[in-house]
Amino acid sequence: MRTLVIGTGGREHALARALSLDPGVTEVHAAPGNPGIAAVATVHDVDPMSGPAVAALAAGLGVDLVVVGPEAPLVAGVADAVRERGIACFGPSREAAELEGSKAFAKDVMAAAGVPTAAARVCTTAAEKEAALDELGAPYVVKDDGLAAGKGVVVTEGRQAALDHALACDRVVVEEFLDGPEVSLFAITDGTTVYPLQPAQDFKRIGDGDAGPNTGGMGAYTPLSWAPDDLVDEVLRDVLQPTVDELARRGTPFAGLLYAGLALTSRGTRVVEFNARFGDPETQPLLALLDSPLSPLLHAAATGGLADVEPPRWKDGAAVAVVMASAGYPESSSTGDVITGVGSADALPDVHVIHAGTALAGDDLVTAGGRVLAVVATGSSVADARGAAYGGVEAIAFDGAQHRTDIAAGR
Ligand SMILES: Nc1ncnc2c1ncn2[C@@H]1O[C@H](COP(=O)(O)OP(=O)(O)OP(=O)(O)O)[C@@H](O)[C@H]1O
Ligand SMILES: [Mg+2]
Repeated sequence: MRTLVIGTGGREHALARALSLDPGVTEVHAAPGNPGIAAVATVHDVDPMSGPAVAALAAGLGVDLVVVGPEAPLVAGVADAVRERGIACFGPSREAAELEGSKAFAKDVMAAAGVPTAAARVCTTAAEKEAALDELGAPYVVKDDGLAAGKGVVVTEGRQAALDHALACDRVVVEEFLDGPEVSLFAITDGTTVYPLQPAQDFKRIGDGDAGPNTGGMGAYTPLSWAPDDLVDEVLRDVLQPTVDELARRGTPFAGLLYAGLALTSRGTRVVEFNARFGDPETQPLLALLDSPLSPLLHAAATGGLADVEPPRWKDGAAVAVVMASAGYPESSSTGDVITGVGSADALPDVHVIHAGTALAGDDLVTAGGRVLAVVATGSSVADARGAAYGGVEAIAFDGAQHRTDIAAGR
């Protein structure tokens, strides 16, 4: 199988790497990629947001499968453009990707499908926003309806801060606060059959102990020994399958990766959000532990034949990813800082380094974004994998590098 991965980040590097290790895959291409992806794939300088350009690249390369990594191209309809050329594409249609592209749409689907989630009000006017804040109360949760690159949600005790965010956005979803630990549960689906992956957890705040602002994600690990044994069965039954069935019923089937962000609250499991693509950085440890070859699962999901492929199998043990971010992240980021030690980290046993925001400046690898690298390690336990991942982090240096020291700690 010849494959093409669309995107530039750590998730796409992890996907390209997994495809490059799959014996059934003869070629891995990527667009536009990054220096890490270029080590496992042939990269092409094509705009990932342009459906016609991506479809033309896929046709020109003669690929059998396109995998669209990020949400923005999916919401823009890039997967539809590829499929219109008769090429299999892993990633939902523009209409189905609204599950991530509009939080109000996701709430509507959940209500219709009976999926447990926070009570919510969709508001556009200032009066509606004020009334919803007062009705649902503190802590206030205000979400920009549309895609906001991880910056759309404010959770605060302060009514004024909540209102300021609501007024700064056009349409918002104001919702009830959910307590309890968060779990990410991904599922591969062809629009009918749903195969959940292992639960994972990510660490969204910049600082140790979950201090400071939200980020794209500072680390992740899997499996979760503390999660209830029946969590996957419960979420498949109550969340994933009903959501997939509801979108099929509406005539806009969801085929691709359905990401359920869950809160395990004192009153039961609730959906915090859906995403329409692999999560970053949870994908890094998940793919490190996936024992099944990746391409048959993605190809079958893209072509309606998932029931004919065996469900994913997992390796024993655990995997941990620790993100290294550049100076100023998440408010800003620093580019051009020279990165050293990636080769040494990669050479450590059970460790590999995933590139997210890197670039080449001459012979130097330099920072090119907020999240720069994810150091991923596997081990017989979370503690082993964690120790190995931090060993990799210690080997890498760049000016202003930031990382959390408590990823997967105490597990
Ligand atoms: N109802 C809620 N109660 C408590 N915390 C919440 C609630 N909704 C969201 N959050 C917190 O805010 C974070 C971001 O919210 P959400 O996942 O909806 O936004 P997002 O910007 O789409 O995130 P992502 O970048 O992961 O896709 C959640 O992971 C959670 O920590
Ligand atoms: Mg989201």
